[in-house]
Amino acid sequence: MANFAPPPGTADIFAAEARRWRTLENTAASVFSRYGYGELRTPIFEYTEIFQRGLGGETEVVQKEMYTFEDRGGRSLTLRPEGTAGVMRALSNTDVLNGVEQRVYYCGPMFRGERPAAGRRRQFHQVGVENVGRVAPLIDAECIAMLMEFLRELGINDAKLAINTRGVTADRGPAGELLRNYFAQHIDTMCDDCKARLDRNVWRILDCKQEACRKVVADAPDYVASFSAESRAYFDEVQAALTALGIPYTVDPLLVRGLDYYVHTVFEVSHSGLGAQTAVAGGGRYELFLPGQNRPVPGVGFAAGMERLLMVQDALKLNPPGVDPASFYLVGLGAAARMANLKLANRLRRDGVTVALELEERSFKAQLRSANKSGAKYAVIRGDAELEKGVAVVKSMADGSQSEIPEGELFEFLSSHR
Ligand code: HAM
Repeated sequence: MANFAPPPGTADIFAAEARRWRTLENTAASVFSRYGYGELRTPIFEYTEIFQRGLGGETEVVQKEMYTFEDRGGRSLTLRPEGTAGVMRALSNTDVLNGVEQRVYYCGPMFRGERPAAGRRRQFHQVGVENVGRVAPLIDAECIAMLMEFLRELGINDAKLAINTRGVTADRGPAGELLRNYFAQHIDTMCDDCKARLDRNVWRILDCKQEACRKVVADAPDYVASFSAESRAYFDEVQAALTALGIPYTVDPLLVRGLDYYVHTVFEVSHSGLGAQTAVAGGGRYELFLPGQNRPVPGVGFAAGMERLLMVQDALKLNPPGVDPASFYLVGLGAAARMANLKLANRLRRDGVTVALELEERSFKAQLRSANKSGAKYAVIRGDAELEKGVAVVKSMADGSQSEIPEGELFEFLSSHR
């Protein structure tokens, strides 16, 4: 067979799998709308500066992973690597700048030029939410609670929630300095990436996966203690709210997240069913500069990787792949019977019934074999003899029993046995 595989890190999703995706999307829409979120569909590509400015020029995503190309007019465009920046661009056209809260959710493909692996794709899909315009610890807690509720409705009850605080922007300087001073003493033993991070983005050293670096990180100073009283109080309130809501969590001081827009609360949800890529979802509070604005707009949100949600569901044996079989398979022998079947199928389908039928000249045996394979509950069989008699034979595929139904009652009979 010719190799028509899609590009590395992408996948074709056929019906049996696609049904599972639809279930995820429907569950997201159902849960999020109960919290007052409406759907927002933004373009799949944006002007490159939306991401450069939004996510931060020093982030891995912006530096190494973006799919960037030129518009016909020479303007730089980028396939969205995440949803938040585009959502904020779209919301800049609303009254969110006047402090009016906006609650939106989205789902769809995102693109990052990462090394493909299980649970890591170049085209992957996120379902995410953004609550934009207002700042309060309880808003962060409500957002996290909604994520956990979404997972619960998907049947995922054993995911682990880790939270941390990034403080306000003004805390970043002194705390960064504290970390830089500490890591500078050990930098000789650390990886090349961390050597570069020391000056460029010291925070990312905290989540380096290299064994040697992790040893150094383990004894890093408690930078959160150096945050302002305001930041620490904010974080305390988020934790108190999670506790009041009965949501278990751990505080992980090494959780800094890969994007630069975060302030205050950050969080990640992981699951043991994922293997190496443990993050099912991540998010936090952020401040983003909207186009043409010199004051950042606050928001809080998260995104869950749909491929990873499905992997967790696989591990838990939930939401299995499959197709919805037709209720009836119409078997027709001869041109007149096939035409009668085509008309009947139309009527039943309009009535909401799923129907499969034979439209070509094929033997009775071949048609019945197809009916069997289709998973239909009943085969409805007719040829010239049945047409003449004004009946159709309805055969139960489960037990092989069959009965003759008069033409005039056929629609009602099938409609009530769907
Ligand atoms: P993120 O942590 O970069 O955050 O991505 C969120 C989730 O998307 C991850 O937890 C993971 O499940 C999934 N994901 C990311 N990259 C890949 C990949 N290459 N293959 C498969 N799945 C992947 C964000 O994108 C933020 N915009 C979340 C957010 C919203 N923060 C505030 N609001």
